[in-house]
Amino acid sequence: MSRIPKETVDQIIAQADIVEVVGDFVSLKKKGQNMWAPCPFHHEKSPSFSVSPGKGIYKCFGCGKAGNSVQFIMDVEGIGYVEALKYLARKFSIEIQEEETPELNQAQSDRESQYILSNFAKEYFQDVLLNHEQGKSIGMPYLQERGLSVATIKKFELGYSLEAWDGLTSKALAQGYQKQYLESTGLTIFKEDKQYDRFRARVMFPIHNVSGRVLGFGGRTLKSNDKTPKYVNSPESDIYHKSDVLYGLYQAKQAIRSQDLCYMVEGYLDVISLSQGGVENVVASSGTSLTEGQIKLIGRYTKNITVLYDGDAAGIKASLRGIDLILEGGLNVNVVLFPDKEDPDSYIRRVGDTAFKNYINANAKDFISFKTELLSQEAQHNPVKKAEAIRDILESIAKVPDSIKRAVFFQQCATIFGIEEQVLITEYNKLIKQERQKPVVPAGFIPAEEPVAEVKPAEDVTSDDAILLHHEREVIRLLVNYSASKLPEDTPFLPYFLEQLEDLEFKTPIYSRLYNIFKEAAAYSPFVSPDYFINHPDAEVRQEAISLLTERFDLSPNWETHQIFVPKEVELLQFAADTAVLRLKWRNVQHMIRENMELLKVEKDPGEVTKQLTILKTLQQYEIEIGSQLGIVVSR
Ligand code: CTP
Ligand code: MN
Repeated sequence: MSRIPKETVDQIIAQADIVEVVGDFVSLKKKGQNMWAPCPFHHEKSPSFSVSPGKGIYKCFGCGKAGNSVQFIMDVEGIGYVEALKYLARKFSIEIQEEETPELNQAQSDRESQYILSNFAKEYFQDVLLNHEQGKSIGMPYLQERGLSVATIKKFELGYSLEAWDGLTSKALAQGYQKQYLESTGLTIFKEDKQYDRFRARVMFPIHNVSGRVLGFGGRTLKSNDKTPKYVNSPESDIYHKSDVLYGLYQAKQAIRSQDLCYMVEGYLDVISLSQGGVENVVASSGTSLTEGQIKLIGRYTKNITVLYDGDAAGIKASLRGIDLILEGGLNVNVVLFPDKEDPDSYIRRVGDTAFKNYINANAKDFISFKTELLSQEAQHNPVKKAEAIRDILESIAKVPDSIKRAVFFQQCATIFGIEEQVLITEYNKLIKQERQKPVVPAGFIPAEEPVAEVKPAEDVTSDDAILLHHEREVIRLLVNYSASKLPEDTPFLPYFLEQLEDLEFKTPIYSRLYNIFKEAAAYSPFVSPDYFINHPDAEVRQEAISLLTERFDLSPNWETHQIFVPKEVELLQFAADTAVLRLKWRNVQHMIRENMELLKVEKDPGEVTKQLTILKTLQQYEIEIGSQLGIVVSR
């Protein structure tokens, strides 16, 4: 990579107006001094994403993402710091004079040369497809027979490679491209004194990075004999790292973000067909199993993945592991299985766009249920296999970061296998004890919301209560410490915070007391001095308030690690307050769900069961809502 001189960096940061930068991605509405929009980083209905033009920063009160223009571009485009600076430089027409450091420069220019050559090759293959005799008589009819429109062919920049030894190679050399790069990109194969094109007589699929630069190619033969492989692909190179690339992401990323969902298919043609049919939020792993890098990449655009499987069972079992990786990444996975001998491409072409979408909606299953059903069928009359299957599923469940979701999976799994839930939970606890001996989270991976917790038997609720107490305490601590403070735009903290709490019920008696005292006090004044508590007639109240006031505390411990541009104290306070309220609500609803589930276990009256189930549904919906505001994924 090259170095951008500091003055240029400063200039870019100074000129990259946050409103203009963010405005390319979401539509901002002015409210007070700030601009607001639905957050581009998490799914939400009412806008909690704010931009402060004066301070040059953005912040989402839902998911907590925050930073300046550069950070925004890094997050939204999923690119690095230098790339983000270059993006902004291009947008604001700032010239970058890169510093000359010989080795960096050489590496940079090597990569750049490979990009340029790959782009040349892409244009060459396109030209052959559209204008050359062979392209027009062989390549084009093939693509049209597969149902692709010219617009689609152009959108994915498809091409055709000549049936000739060195169609591309001779053309590139004649135009001055160097042998060295033809070799390193793998476009040309050099063997002894011979040189020939890697791709011959194939339909060409360029593979793009997220910003649309071509990294490599896949080439499909049109012949249906076994002599030649169906697909030939570019090798790994300085610019093409297969494990960090997803086919179609460049074309799909806006749709993935706006629909908050990514479909994952296997083949190039699956992506293209679906996209043409209006299912644009689709990418392919290109035949290989999913990698951590690919999952991270998707995680920048959505936390929801639906895997669309071809109807052949052998392939499915092989890919179950890859899906565990998605769970581990804290993402939410659903699965759709297509009828036998169909892949998404053949299916959408057979039944049409609407029926295809209906099929997906009707058949999407969460991954754990899918896996449980799949494995339980196989293991039906074989106890050894059954035990193996159960352990296998428990391992997947252990990767689900959300505890409520895990609880539901235990129930489902127990029912499907016809065993006691308690037996499952005991097994599970054994398993995660073993797991703890090994490091679990790969470096740099999206952390789960909380470490996978041991499941306590239902009678023992102490840990649950302890968690609630912790969050209640946190809310009251903010009240005691900041009830005389102001938030941005001079909003008094106390009434704002009380309104957020929505008359929530505190379970811990002392916090419930303090909360009521605050409500009474707020009726008289929007500002309440801590002295009010320090001098309170009730000794218990006094003592608790003082202990909360003297506790050393850091507004946001995550601030550093997320490398967020640190704004003023008041903004930190608002962030801390919003998060504390959400967390408490989140714990409360989980607590209610648990109580409700306990009730359901013992309830015999069918009418009452139905009623409780309705309540459970509402609670779970609420849980998803709060979770998403917190940026936590709750499976639907
Ligand atoms: N693949 C590959 N090399 C092969 C076979 C497959 O790289 N020899 C990859 C390709 O990325 C391909 C994907 O695996 O798109 C899925 O393979 P397959 O289902 O066989 O191909 P389709 O994409 O469905 O192609 P078609 O519909 O033309 O058969
Ligand atoms: Mn296919």
